[in-house]
Amino acid sequence: MRYVVALTGCSGIQYGIRLLEELDGTRELIISKMGKKVLEEETDMTMTDLGASAEEIYEDDNLFAPPASGSHQFDAMIICPCTQSTLAKISTGIADTLITRAASVALKENRKLIIVPRETPVNAIMLKNMLHLAKSGAIILPASPAFYNKPHSINDMINFVVGRILDQIGQEHSLFRRWE
Ligand SMILES: Cc1cc2nc3c(=O)[nH]c(=O)nc-3n(C[C@H](O)[C@H](O)[C@H](O)COP(=O)(O)O)c2cc1C
Repeated sequence: MRYVVALTGCSGIQYGIRLLEELDGTRELIISKMGKKVLEEETDMTMTDLGASAEEIYEDDNLFAPPASGSHQFDAMIICPCTQSTLAKISTGIADTLITRAASVALKENRKLIIVPRETPVNAIMLKNMLHLAKSGAIILPASPAFYNKPHSINDMINFVVGRILDQIGQEHSLFRRWE
């Protein structure tokens, strides 16, 4: 399996980091300019550390990179976390960065596009954009950890969200206790 994983300038960059660690298959990583800044702000990781969890890394302004073309095969694209800015661009068809272009490609090629927004509260524009994307074939999977599995740590909460992403792509995992 081949995945395009995008990290954008959202709080909760840890969700994307854990996702990269857990994904089985080839990981093509794109991180936006603001994503790099939030990585610095919220973690002690460098881009080099993050790069160790990906087979390929592309710059977000490199529209010549493989994920920009529909002829480049990938099984799913996951934007985790996804800012409302990136989400709005994808919703309106703007494809001026590698992340937004790859998302547009995923939709036009009928490939799985999983968008993990992290924002609260959300305004009507954001809701409209999310609805439009859901109707256009994207999976909107908000970063909202559950509590029925009695999390003991932030790690447990991150694992819940990442586990729900893995559920969407059909990857087996034991990141959280399922409701029985
Ligand atoms: C520390 C920090 C945290 C942010 N958190 C969020 C967030 O949780 N959700 C969001 O939609 N935007 C958030 N933003 C705003 C985005 O970074 C901003 O809209 C940016 O233009 C998004 O660019 P990108 O989508 O290319 O990464 C945050 C910005 C900063 C500096």
